[in-house]
Amino acid sequence: MMATDGAAVMADGLSAPAKPYLWKRHALTTRITHWITVLSMAFLLTSGLNIFNAHPALYWGSYGADSDDNKRWLEIGSTGQQGITRIGPVKLDTTGVLGLSNDKRGQAQAIGFPGWATFPSYRDLGTARNWHFFFAWVFILNGLVYLAAGLWSGHLKRDLLPRLSELSPRNILHDIWLHLRLKFPRGEDAKRYHILQKAAYGGTVFILLPLMVASGLSLSPGIGASWTWLIDLLGGRQSARSIHFITMALLVGFVIVHVAMVLLAGPFNEIRSMITGKFRIDPVKP
Ligand code: HEM
Repeated sequence: MMATDGAAVMADGLSAPAKPYLWKRHALTTRITHWITVLSMAFLLTSGLNIFNAHPALYWGSYGADSDDNKRWLEIGSTGQQGITRIGPVKLDTTGVLGLSNDKRGQAQAIGFPGWATFPSYRDLGTARNWHFFFAWVFILNGLVYLAAGLWSGHLKRDLLPRLSELSPRNILHDIWLHLRLKFPRGEDAKRYHILQKAAYGGTVFILLPLMVASGLSLSPGIGASWTWLIDLLGGRQSARSIHFITMALLVGFVIVHVAMVLLAGPFNEIRSMITGKFRIDPVKP
């Protein structure tokens, strides 16, 4: 017997697809908000790096200035011949990328992040801030739409929040083992997120992105000045900058792994599902 979606209904009542069929994986709001997130994060990241270049050093607490060299936990600088990045006690020669890199005309310039990684590609704090603040609001409003739709439809609870049974060490180790062998779910099993995917998406949606927004709001000249409790909660203005930067680095890490997983799992089917919503389910031999 064939179900309407092309699946054969077996004796035990469960269905196994007899032939490949397209299944609706992502709701329209998830798809639209996902791609608006990608666009706004591209501008936020590159304009944020341009803003960082105005003072490429990070501190903890409330204060940080040019004279506070000894209080920096991270700094990107140049000796004139070399680009140096220091993280705590570790000094790295990052000539060509961080601290000292070639500009468009091929001339060496002392700059934190290189022009190809920033927007605009030349140093312009005012323009970078305008773009950063514009896309920050696009990103926040878009995120609120995603959260509201996900709560309303039950998507967040049903698909992203791990169930208690999934949190057993055995299940987590099993999923890590499958990922290490690049064995991705197939057939009907591909219709749900497994624990590592839930941890990556859930951690990003519920922890990293809210932390990014909270630390960003506390740094905003208008809001930070009146919501002083937020700066206090984050441990001071310089701590808020550090948290904003570390969260950015973790998000970049997420995106690298996320895109790698999409490419390994089958880029055509995966990306089509985030554009049209349709995901191809293939039959699996018992
Ligand atoms: C820029 C930062 C990005 C963030 C924060 C992000 C975040 C996410 C999240 C949270 C989901 C799960 C959505 C849900 O089910 O509610 C997701 C799914 C997905 N993302 Fe991204 N993403 C980013 C970039 C990208 C890029 C550049 C691509 C293109 C290769 C991509 C392709 C996909 C695909 C194909 C899925 C569906 C995966 C599946 O259904 O298993 N994402 N993304």
